[in-house]
Amino acid sequence: MVKICCIGAGYVGGPTMAVIALKCPAIEVVVVDISEQRIAGWNSKRLPIYEPGLDDVVRQCRGRNLFFSTEVHRHVGDADIVFVSVNTPTKTCGLGAGKAADLTYWESAARMIADVSRSDKIVVEKSTVPVKTAEAIEKILVHNGRGVRYQILSNPEFLAEGTAIQDLFAPDRVLIGGRETPEGRAAVKALKDVYAQWVPDERIITTNLWSAELSKLAANAFLAQRISSVNAISALCEATGADVTQVAHSVGKDARIGPRFLSASVGFGGSCFQKDILNLVYICECYGLPEVAGYWREVIRINDYQKSRFVNRVVSSMFNTVAGKKVAVLGFAFKKDTGDTRETPAIDVCKGLLGDKAVVSIYDPQVTGEQVSRDLAMNKFDWDHPRHLQPLSDTDLAKQVGMAADAYEAARDAHAVCILTEWDEFRSLDYKRMFDAMHKPAFIFDGRNVVDVAKLREIGFVVYSIGKPL
Ligand code: NAD
Ligand code: UGA
Repeated sequence: MVKICCIGAGYVGGPTMAVIALKCPAIEVVVVDISEQRIAGWNSKRLPIYEPGLDDVVRQCRGRNLFFSTEVHRHVGDADIVFVSVNTPTKTCGLGAGKAADLTYWESAARMIADVSRSDKIVVEKSTVPVKTAEAIEKILVHNGRGVRYQILSNPEFLAEGTAIQDLFAPDRVLIGGRETPEGRAAVKALKDVYAQWVPDERIITTNLWSAELSKLAANAFLAQRISSVNAISALCEATGADVTQVAHSVGKDARIGPRFLSASVGFGGSCFQKDILNLVYICECYGLPEVAGYWREVIRINDYQKSRFVNRVVSSMFNTVAGKKVAVLGFAFKKDTGDTRETPAIDVCKGLLGDKAVVSIYDPQVTGEQVSRDLAMNKFDWDHPRHLQPLSDTDLAKQVGMAADAYEAARDAHAVCILTEWDEFRSLDYKRMFDAMHKPAFIFDGRNVVDVAKLREIGFVVYSIGKPL
């Protein structure tokens, strides 16, 4: 029986390994983590992450060929293939602070692998890492190897949160990069054999190590760039009377462009787009390519612009002040169908409103009040550095922020509603009921284009939708 161990039981390690275990009953898969709380969650009824379809997959294989454990050393030592799926956040201090990837977790995982390994291993980069990381990892392993032989592969993950299980079941592609040596090719084949249990051959791409590492950063940069492109056009739509939904539809009909990923929004969020683009920018700068770095940096600038543009629109529409006014915030997660709030645009929007002294009442079906208060207490880039994660204390900010049990409670006595996540339930709310319970004029600022603008105007709302005629 092939044994797989995955270091890191997060949003990637957990679902990815669960699907491998489901599709490959002959392989034993153990997911290990230093966080006892996370592992306890994976072994409980309430999994530590919310992902549609995940419960079902875990229920089918946990205890059969899928295990979650904090016994990191034992399971890494026993494995034939070790996936490393630890977090790779943006550095917050030192060389490259605010841009470069922080590889502390990766390096400590690599050193631990070297310490505990007594048999040859394939080490797979699952985390998103800078180009050439495999070379650094190889050095750490080889110099501490004590005769154990390693092959390093790059196998970046392309799943999106909220659709992780369906993305893993039917991936657009699986990418495996390895050394172009007989041993490297054998390692690539061993990993390919795992995925081949359910992924068609033509969807498994094999490349050299550096192409695989760079493809992941490039793919995220291209995706984020599409959103910044449509968001930039949304500002022009508002200025001219064009409708961004119509423009995106017309543009996306061109088969060379395609219709997906062209929804204008309050800005993209999530743990990866910004981090990976900053990482790309830093790499370009390090290789003496400032023009290329500048090109990609603009994608983030437009995203920041879109978030602050939204806040400015709210405040300026409400007679240039929101001080003391209750604003209902519907949705705090960075997208629907996840409870993840890392880099969610809702943090920036709420901070902007709070800065103008608004009283904010937040409702999100998957995000807790503790999470919101931690997020609002954090500085930029702090979210993945747990030492900073102190919940919001009894400060002015805490007095300005409340959680609501549903959208109606959030909107009661509010002056405005801001929709910041595109949860399906926000499409079918009883907006008349909300309108009746609000101060007048009642404003709606739709950061996700989920409401029917004409209907809401009929009810009496003053409506602002991203990229729509005012
Ligand atoms: P995460 O923070 O949810 O999970 C990482 C886990 O690694 C944590 O539970 C942490 O405790 C654990 N960990 C850190 N150091 C460890 C060590 N030395 N030993 C054992 N466990 C350790 O992160 P994530 O969202 O799963 O992302 C992981 C990587 O995958 C990142 O590089 C990210 O860029 C990439 N990625 C993420 C997504 C996504 O949708 N979240 C998608 C594709 C790629
Ligand atoms: C993204 C990529 O889609 C994955 O392929 C990649 O594996 C992952 O990053 C990663 O490396 O972490 P994810 O961040 O989970 O996945 O979710 P997306 O669906 O890409 O959405 C990211 C952000 O963009 C969200 O805030 C979403 O609301 C926003 N978005 C997305 C838009 O504003 N408009 C769109 O048209 C699409």
